[in-house]
Amino acid sequence: MDWQVPLSDIDLGDAEIEAVSQVLRSRWLSMGPVTQQFEAAFAAMCGAKHAFAVSNGTTALHLAYAALGLGPGDEVIVPALTFVATANAIRYTGATPVFADVTSLDDLTISPAAIAAKITPRTRAIAVMHYGGYLCDMDAILALAGQDGLAVVEDACHAPGATYNEHGAGTLGDVGCFSFFANKNIAIGEGGMVTTNRDDLAEQIRLLRSHGMTTLTWDRHRGHAASYDVVATGFNYRLDEIHSALGLAQLGKLVENNRRRADLVDHLRAELTGLLGLTVPFSVPTAGSQPAYHIFPVILEPAIDRTAFMAHLRSHGIQSSIHYPPIHQFSAFRAEQITARLPVTEDAGRREVTLPLFPTMTEQQVAAVVAAVRSGLAASRA
Ligand SMILES: Cc1ncc(COP(=O)(O)O)c(C=O)c1O
Repeated sequence: MDWQVPLSDIDLGDAEIEAVSQVLRSRWLSMGPVTQQFEAAFAAMCGAKHAFAVSNGTTALHLAYAALGLGPGDEVIVPALTFVATANAIRYTGATPVFADVTSLDDLTISPAAIAAKITPRTRAIAVMHYGGYLCDMDAILALAGQDGLAVVEDACHAPGATYNEHGAGTLGDVGCFSFFANKNIAIGEGGMVTTNRDDLAEQIRLLRSHGMTTLTWDRHRGHAASYDVVATGFNYRLDEIHSALGLAQLGKLVENNRRRADLVDHLRAELTGLLGLTVPFSVPTAGSQPAYHIFPVILEPAIDRTAFMAHLRSHGIQSSIHYPPIHQFSAFRAEQITARLPVTEDAGRREVTLPLFPTMTEQQVAAVVAAVRSGLAASRA
């Protein structure tokens, strides 16, 4: 379908084409200098001591959980209002995801009180997700983790460039995980990044990303090493030079594009707040935080039929989506559903709609979204 306003669109241009062409001309396609530059630039952007480019956000999460040494019998507290990868990657290690509710229909991030209620002697870590690029209540979550000696993994896939008390998202907990999937704030097709300030975890992530090998092709190419040992059962979760070049070019646009997203959100929020039939979450951003504005969620009142509302938007050429069908309600997570009581998550899962938001969105597109939302609310009242 040819959307008048797609859900998201990428700011891709000559900078990306030139960056990729340079890699192709260099004839060095993986494990090389461009990936190292991308890692260094990303680490500097968010203020992390270490950053590791990886093949996608899911492998970033797997490396984070694996580096923490999680395994069978361990529990990780995680929101269910997130992409399934946040929880799937816990299962890859043999550990069990334990779902905790989000705070409210205004704050769709994991609730510190709900986390506290789920801590057991088996809990090893808390995984948070900065929903939509809005920061979780990290002071409260880090305090809880500190009391019980728990690790904190940040799924920061929505939040590159976001800050909390001047610290970058992805550097607040023990490990941060980013996705550079085709619709993200940094979009390169498939790719991701793992960040950490802990040297011990960095060493594990470095090993596990590339087969548990003690030296890499690039080290050997530069004459830094002749052979290697394998000291762990690792993976191949590396990012190649072509995607790293795209990532560097996209990273160069991040600050400006996040600022543009912020302006668009201000505009959409001003137009939609107070409309009968919906509310706009994150009316009060977490204290001391600067969001990354990845998506623009709204919550419909129960009297609005969501299917009819989304169909109305579609008929006006406006693409919309749902973030997210709650994980504990998926068939593959039936076992977890038995113990999970997540009324706010379930309510959000029924009533949330994501409207278009992307840095190149025009004023006319904003006006088209606002008009279709207004007429859609009137037409979809049950
Ligand atoms: C919150 C969240 N976590 C994890 C992922 C997984 O990232 P990827 O698609 O790059 O594997 C995504 C993106 O799709 C995401 O939005």
